[in-house]
Order: sequence, then C-alpha cells, then structure tokens
Amino acid sequence: MPLRCPQLSPAVKMHFFARILLAGLAAAVQAQWQHVSDAEFHSLVDSNDLLLAAFVAPWTGPCKSLASEWAATKSQLTYPAVSIDCTANQTLCSAHNVHSYPAIRLFRGPHEWVRYRGPRKASAIVPFVRRASLPVVSEVNIKNITALTGIDRVTFVAYLKEDDHSMRSRFTKVAETFRDQFVFGISNDKRLAEKENIAFPSIIAYRTDVGDQEVLQGTVTRSVIGKFILEAGKPLIDELTRRNEIDYMSVTLTTPLLTRD
Ligand SMILES: *[C@@H]1O[C@H](CO)[C@@H](O)[C@H](O)[C@H]1NC(C)=O
Ligand SMILES: *[C@@H]1O[C@H](CO)[C@@H](O)[C@H](O)[C@H]1NC(C)=O
Repeated sequence: MPLRCPQLSPAVKMHFFARILLAGLAAAVQAQWQHVSDAEFHSLVDSNDLLLAAFVAPWTGPCKSLASEWAATKSQLTYPAVSIDCTANQTLCSAHNVHSYPAIRLFRGPHEWVRYRGPRKASAIVPFVRRASLPVVSEVNIKNITALTGIDRVTFVAYLKEDDHSMRSRFTKVAETFRDQFVFGISNDKRLAEKENIAFPSIIAYRTDVGDQEVLQGTVTRSVIGKFILEAGKPLIDELTRRNEIDYMSVTLTTPLLTRD
C-alpha cells in the first residue's frame, strides 16, 4: 500500500517536509530501531521457531513511541524481535498485507503468524511471546508451579486425576481458544492440591496482578470453563483497547464454547 502525501502548496510542502525531516531526526535520537532487510527477515523466520516482527513507518507517532518499548522487548526475549521499515521498501510489507503501522506479528515459520493486539508496551509484548512459546497446556507439580504462574498475570491450572480424560480434553480445548491471552497448566499432584486446599477436579485461576485466586470446582462443561476463564481473567480488559475488547468477546461467540459437550 503506497504512502500518499496530500496535495499541498510549495511553501506548505517545504514546511511539511522540514517537519518530516525534523521528526525523522528526533526519531533517530530517541529510537533504537535497527531494521532488517527482506533477506535478513526471510533467513530469520526460516531458522527460528518463533520470530516477533514489527512492521513500521518510523516517522509516524505510534511507531516513534514503540521504538524504546521495542528495544526493551528485544533485550528481554530469547527469540529474535525484528523491525521492518515499510517506508524504505514496501515489498515485504505488501506481501504480508500490512495496512497500518505499526503492525506487530508473531511468526511460527514463514507461513503461520498471529497478530499482536495488546498494549504496545514491552511489559505486555514480552509475556505474549512467552505464552506463545509454551505448549497449550503445561504439566506442573508442587516443585515447579511457580515457574508457570510467574510468567504472566493470570494463569489457569486444572487439578485433575490422571485418568480424567474428559475434563482434560475439555480444559485443553478451551485453553486452545484463549492461549493468546492466558497461561494454562494441568496438575495431578496430590500434595499440591492439598496445599491449595482443593479436591479433584478443580480449576484455579492464579491472578498475580490482583494477588488472589478463584476456584471452579467439579466436573463441568466447556461452556462453564470458558465463562469462568472470561470472568476470572477480567481485570485484563481494562488494559485492552475498545477494538481488542470487541475481538475478545467475539472469540467466545464464534467458537463452539457455548455448545454443550
Ligand atoms: C525491495 O526488496 C526486494 C526484495 O524483497 C528487492 O527485490 C527490491 O530490489 C528492493 N527494492 C529496493 C528499492 O530496494
Ligand atoms: C514440572 O516438572 C514435571 C516433572 O518433572 C515436568 O514434566 C514438567 O514439564 C515441569 N513443568 C514446568 C512448567 O517446568
């Protein structure tokens, strides 16, 4: 998509370009963008399980404010986080249908990617990538549960007996729907269940952001699990933009969560 300049008188045009130049210089001072070329992008996306990419038009306001957050994101991730300057060469950005800047996407190889829609802050982007690097559901026990609950602000752990295949399958299906938003675990550790003072089967929402827990007890349907997750994950909504909120709600309407199983 070409970037269009409005038709302006020569004097205004001079002013306009002077401002762009100044904005460009300011961005160069405050920002630490280190853009990759098309070839570098292709080689990195081929050789990494996960690659985070920001498609930017560096002189636009939202991209300028992303610059320092992107540098912070890069320094905290074990996966590469690259940026592509869509104003320097449109080829790659057009090929990926980038229509607004910045567009942040997480690639799993060259053909599979998901859009990042959360706040453009390192504190939200980093947990997003860490969640994506986990399996849909991680096994945990009394020794290592805190490694999982420490990743993000809300973690759901299902406490299930080893042979409870139907609850395991329901929980996993719901986790697939929400893996972009929350971290999910399963435990059959009796000592951990005792410590948490719950009986099998139960699901605990660990909310480190507000410092509490919520519990859903008993054998329940996917629909009930889905509603519990939306409800217990709610504090997150404050941080989502209106657009995200709509997407967030539509996830629950378009997936078969609400059918009984
Ligand atoms: C843009 O990148 C493509 C490769 O993806 C290359 O073929 C083309 O020559 C580049 N254009 C410019 C102006 O650098
Ligand atoms: C916790 O430990 C168990 C048993 O060693 C292991 O299978 C599981 O992957 C570990 N989970 C995490 C999140 O490290």
